[in-house]
Amino acid sequence: MKGRIFSGVQPSGSLHIGNYLGMIRNAVALQADYECIYCVVDLHAITVRQEPEELRAQTREVTAAFLASGIDPKTSIIFNQSQVAAHAELAWIFNCVARLGWLNRMTQFKEKAGKHRENASAGLYVYPALMAADIMAYKATHVPVGEDQKQHLEFTRDVALKFNHDFGADFFPIVEPLIFGAATRVMSLRDGTKKMSKSDPSGYSRIDMTDGPDLIAQKIRKAKTDPEPLPGPEALAADGLSLSSEVAVARPEAFNLLSIYASLARKPLSEALRVFGGVQFSDFKRQLTEVAVEHLGPIGTEMQRLMADPGYVDGVLRDGAERADAIAGPILREVQDLVGFLRVK
Ligand code: TYM
Repeated sequence: MKGRIFSGVQPSGSLHIGNYLGMIRNAVALQADYECIYCVVDLHAITVRQEPEELRAQTREVTAAFLASGIDPKTSIIFNQSQVAAHAELAWIFNCVARLGWLNRMTQFKEKAGKHRENASAGLYVYPALMAADIMAYKATHVPVGEDQKQHLEFTRDVALKFNHDFGADFFPIVEPLIFGAATRVMSLRDGTKKMSKSDPSGYSRIDMTDGPDLIAQKIRKAKTDPEPLPGPEALAADGLSLSSEVAVARPEAFNLLSIYASLARKPLSEALRVFGGVQFSDFKRQLTEVAVEHLGPIGTEMQRLMADPGYVDGVLRDGAERADAIAGPILREVQDLVGFLRVK
């Protein structure tokens, strides 16, 4: 084994192809080489208001997505965050290690709080400290995520370094992000400059993991494009792998759809450019629909089947929580000793 992996997904809206290509599919592949712990982060979800019944349903939906995508609940641990107390307890300690200046730099807080900063929950502000606690409660060494989580992982490294320094111990590992594939940042289908997001009010901005073939086809047909045919290999940057920044900026929708295609088809972007250079969007969209339906169709169907069997899903989470607790509990006790909490039981 190359190390221990931890990653999480919020049960705060429908899961989309960005979550799948940016994280879940990578999480599946990593099971071969790492000890893996995958968490449905319900404590993070309530940093913005959630309806209790929906939160429960979405917790099962994320679990179903993990299972349907190929995460094996026997070898990997799948659980929901609220059921393992170490997360919240370690987060409090990290709130006292992290500096306000670090939190003030977090772009995700600024984006999520928007103009109504004074009205955002205190939980949303300290969200990154809870995320650091998630990872460090298991002393995880690697974290597969999409590009948007990079800053939170830098924060996690800072917290671990400061904790180690403050308490004179080489205790927490310095975590490595694992960000890979052709779609580490999938953009909205309606606006190629905006990230595809669970919270976007327009369902047409994203392809959800549970969308059936007709809906996938319809969303791709309606996806925003530009009037030019698709760019070809001449649009590659000097590295021969990524799109030149001029083209990526000038044609964000073309870049986004080509990246989704390359990622789904497991091909490098350069090959997608070679195949589709000069092709009209209408023809390309037909092929994109085909690969999307081929890949997502069986996963969506399996998710529906699992969601109709909540007893099984809850059993997976129960077993996962017990196994997670057995790892995090002893680590938390060591942290408490280092911090100086008097142990009386
Ligand atoms: P969340 O629930 O927003 O997203 C789950 C995962 O999906 C990735 N992702 C994307 N990747 C590519 N393109 C997109 N448009 C896109 N949107 C989302 C995210 O990067 C993420 O990997 N803070 C985390 C949850 C979390 C966590 C953790 C992650 C809590 N604790 C500990 C790792 C380790 C989040 O909000 O993910």
